[in-house]
Parts: sequence; structure tokens; C-alpha cells
Amino acid sequence: MKTTTIDNVELIDIPKIIDEKGRGNLCVIEGYILKYNVKRTYYLFDVPSDASRGGHAHIACHELLVALSGSFDVVVKDGENSRTITLNKPDKGLLIVDGIWRELDNFSSGAVCLVLASEKYDEADYIRDYNVFLESKG
Ligand code: TYD
Repeated sequence: MKTTTIDNVELIDIPKIIDEKGRGNLCVIEGYILKYNVKRTYYLFDVPSDASRGGHAHIACHELLVALSGSFDVVVKDGENSRTITLNKPDKGLLIVDGIWRELDNFSSGAVCLVLASEKYDEADYIRDYNVFLESKG
């Protein structure tokens, strides 16, 4: 996780199947889009507009974030640089690799953030103190 930077954070196009008969869209996330096998899926919803989620980095876990509905901002930091990405399309996924600090805020009403994670939940994989994160990158 030491060497990853925000340049390793990628916005991925999720293949979209547009129905020829106007029945709406379907997006598929299959193994080849991701560089890892998904071991866990979770989602955030009913997040108040003034609330902030995240506020941590992972030692090993990779995550793909998708705004299934609505919008929110993701701030990613690598200890030197930071970038803010607005997610507001269900056919775009933000791949956050290990060793990247992330904060999610500005949730719109009805926003749903889907997360596809490469690891099962393990609190030992979290760095929740920003100063500890900076030390880990140093
Ligand atoms: P937290 O990491 O604070 O959420 P976020 O980063 O999205 O703001 O997690 C909130 C609580 O949920 C915390 O007690 C840990 C628990 N949790 C699980 O039990 N399993 C999981 O897969 C996740 C992501 C969180």
C-alpha cells in the first residue's frame, strides 16, 4: 500500500446494455472489468446531505464504488495529492486501490453507493487515523 498514489485510482466504464425496445438500461460488472474477485458487496443509502462517510484507507482491500442512484463526491488522498471525483452515473465505477485515503460526502437525496470489495470485512485492514496513514505512506 505504500507506493500507491491517486493516479492508481481509476474511473471505469461499466458496460451498458441499452434496450432496443426502450425498456431501460442494464449494466454488467463481470470479472474482467475488475482486477480482483469480489468477496464482499455492501451499499450506503439514506446518507444525510451533511454527513461524511469513509475517512479511512485500506491496507489490502480494493474497492469499486458505483453511484447506483443520485450523486456524491469522493475525495481520494495519497498523502501528497488529493482529487475529488463526483459519482453520478450508474455506468461509471471508481476503482480505489489499497493505500488510498477516501472521504465520501455531498450525498444527494436518494443516493445509493454500491461497493464491490476485494476482501471480506476485517477491521485490521483499516487505517482510520489520518496521521497513521501519512506515516504508512512515508
Ligand atoms: P464504516 O467503515 O465506518 O463505514 P464508512 O466507511 O462507509 O463510513 O463502517 C460502519 C460500521 O459498519 C462499522 O461498525 C463497521 C461496520 N461494517 C461491517 O460490519 N461490515 C462491512 O463490510 C463494512 C463496510 C462496515
